[in-house]
Amino acid sequence: MYLTREEERIYDGEFGWAKQICMKILVKLGELFGASRLIPVESAHVSGVSYKTLGEAPTDFLEALAKAGEKTVVEATLNPQSLDPRHLAGRLPENLAKMQWKLCEIFEKLGFKKSYTCTPYYIKKPNKGAHLAWAESSAVVYANSVLGAWTNREGGPSALAAAIIGKTPNCGVHKAENRKPKVLVEVKTPLKSEVEYGALGIFLGKILEDKIPLIMGLKKPTTDSLKQLGAALASAGMVNMFHYKAVASEKDRLEKITVESKNIKETIEELTTTPTSKPDLVFIGCPHCSLNEIRKTAKMVGERKVREDVELWICTSNHIKQKAKTHVQKMEANGAKILTNTCAVVTWTDKLGIKTIMTNSAKTAHYAPTLNMAEVKLATLEECLKTALKA
Ligand code: F3S
Repeated sequence: MYLTREEERIYDGEFGWAKQICMKILVKLGELFGASRLIPVESAHVSGVSYKTLGEAPTDFLEALAKAGEKTVVEATLNPQSLDPRHLAGRLPENLAKMQWKLCEIFEKLGFKKSYTCTPYYIKKPNKGAHLAWAESSAVVYANSVLGAWTNREGGPSALAAAIIGKTPNCGVHKAENRKPKVLVEVKTPLKSEVEYGALGIFLGKILEDKIPLIMGLKKPTTDSLKQLGAALASAGMVNMFHYKAVASEKDRLEKITVESKNIKETIEELTTTPTSKPDLVFIGCPHCSLNEIRKTAKMVGERKVREDVELWICTSNHIKQKAKTHVQKMEANGAKILTNTCAVVTWTDKLGIKTIMTNSAKTAHYAPTLNMAEVKLATLEECLKTALKA
């Protein structure tokens, strides 16, 4: 792999051990995946920010990096952590909260923005064609497929290294030839809700391995629907992007898959592990809600109040919460909890006594049985709100 003179000096440790380690991570990855050189990135987004998913050992490494005085050199954002300061911090064991705050402090010292969201593209939309080093799989798929930016699915360490060096290896979907579809997916049934878009993602994620699909037959999907599709696709498989607009000349040479309504129906049934109509938690906002989704949810909540025997969490970023102030205040006055900085999957719902979760997110439904040790019911936003709210 070709390195410039300056990159070589960093690699050799002339600028300290911390930069050297970051450079070595990038070079190692580049060599593994056939990169010829490093390319500058517009931004980096780090996942593994929640102490629940990260644990102690990496915290020591991050602390050492911060003590060495390292700083990010590009726009660098953070995925959700495990605590919402208002609604969760005081309800979880003190030792866990303490470790989480420590971790946040370290990241902030390293120069990361306190974004704590899986939708950094709502804060700052990446430029079309820009190279990024993002590590949240749902954001990676959205950036590649909907926004037209270029990013591999980084791991926490490689996104961190890219944030500090400002570069990433030019391999994977950073190369135009690797962004071409390999499979033509013909969706033969109209998708009627965010849940059906998510179910399509899970269904395809399981069978596509890492083959990029060209998905035909989606009828004027909204960006929110595509967000659900991509988040689910990435959680059930290794795909980093999808195409959904026809590329006529390529169709004929592609492997073909047909998706019928029974595939969608069966996937929803498989993701639903409990028939309950009385969940402990109704969770909306995976991935974090857009402004549109908050508006839509607020409109549907209307004047209805949250029932006493259930919690209603609506997760979004601080950025969107600020923009949706009036809606947020109204929903909170009716008993909903608008959580920022976190989500149900990356916090300790089990420690809050939550055993059943109802959600409109296929990604959450896919992960909750293992990451939350909870039973799940996947249902549309409308059904979720009907369950959480008084008539
Ligand atoms: Fe975001 Fe949490 Fe879902 S990090 S994508 S809301 S699992």
